[in-house]
Amino acid sequence: MRALFIIIAIMAFTGCNGNQEQESPAQTGAQEVVHAGRETYMMYCAQCHGITGDGTATIEIDRPARSFIDGGFSFGNTVHAISKTTASGIPGTPMPPFAEVLTPEEIKEVAEYVRTLADVLPEATLDETELVVDNRPVVARGLLPSLGEGLETHPRGVMIGNPDRFSYEYDGEPVRLLAIRQGPFLRRADWGNRGGSALELLGRIVTIIENGNPNPLFYSDGHALRTQLASTNVSGKYGTISYDLVDEDGHEIGNVTEYCKPTTGVRTLVEQQFEVALKEPIEVKAPEGSILVGASELPRGRHSFKIVHASVGGGS
Ligand code: HEC
Repeated sequence: MRALFIIIAIMAFTGCNGNQEQESPAQTGAQEVVHAGRETYMMYCAQCHGITGDGTATIEIDRPARSFIDGGFSFGNTVHAISKTTASGIPGTPMPPFAEVLTPEEIKEVAEYVRTLADVLPEATLDETELVVDNRPVVARGLLPSLGEGLETHPRGVMIGNPDRFSYEYDGEPVRLLAIRQGPFLRRADWGNRGGSALELLGRIVTIIENGNPNPLFYSDGHALRTQLASTNVSGKYGTISYDLVDEDGHEIGNVTEYCKPTTGVRTLVEQQFEVALKEPIEVKAPEGSILVGASELPRGRHSFKIVHASVGGGS
């Protein structure tokens, strides 16, 4: 029996669609209602998440898949959240996207089935203070907590959350990327009248730039340029942040728009993509531990370049 499951699972995984008529392994007990999503689960999920949902993979993967029995969902345990993870996968992990393999209806059914695998799984309560990123990027501003001992808080923090579940923690004054997170977005804690709303960041940190206290990126004649937040934009797939570059004399010498996106692959890298328009030449210095792809001396005019950050995945 187990061998049959494995064969079906492997066929499904390698995209072999033959023999669909083959008998379904589902067994209908008298009281046990066979869930519509069970068959999909056995075909597409069981080889990694285990036949019972305990996370014991029957194929070799480089990190354990989630046990659904324990109900420890770091990406949310509502049918909606599970469907979303199933559709888009988790970049940088073996969890593949199923949006092109299964219909939305099948994805919903399998998500409902996954929920039935846990003994007790309270539906996450709707928390009005939690900001959830759905199909569009979301930007939140507020006080960012310190990233570690001896590091300051950031009263003018800017958080950008993208639908791919990566979020970017920026200081807004001066503008600089502090850290990259993956998972749920954030919760707003109400601190009364004392200085706006503090943000409780929910994603786990996958990259921290220069130990949370990054140096400036842009220089002119050896002096760091000031960065002045201009705007954020959430109309595309990735939220962007734009700012002006100001020299020592207070002259605006250019502007920058940047956004970040993870690469897909065995190793997750996050690319910080820049578009700059310059009235004066500048120099770019990538943070320690990252790689500048492009020239470091930029003449006047428009340029694009990127800085690549490694990310440390959870669990492996
Ligand atoms: C090739 C192996 C593989 C297959 C096939 C697979 N998964 Fe996964 N899945 C994983 C791994 C590994 C993780 C954990 C990723 C991580 O480290 O965060 C995961 C995580 C998940 C999560 C996130 C749980 C959380 O923490 O919130 C969900 C939901 C999920 N899978 C659902 C499914 C469903 C439904 C299917 C079938 C339609 C499926 N997976 C098929 C490997 C797989």
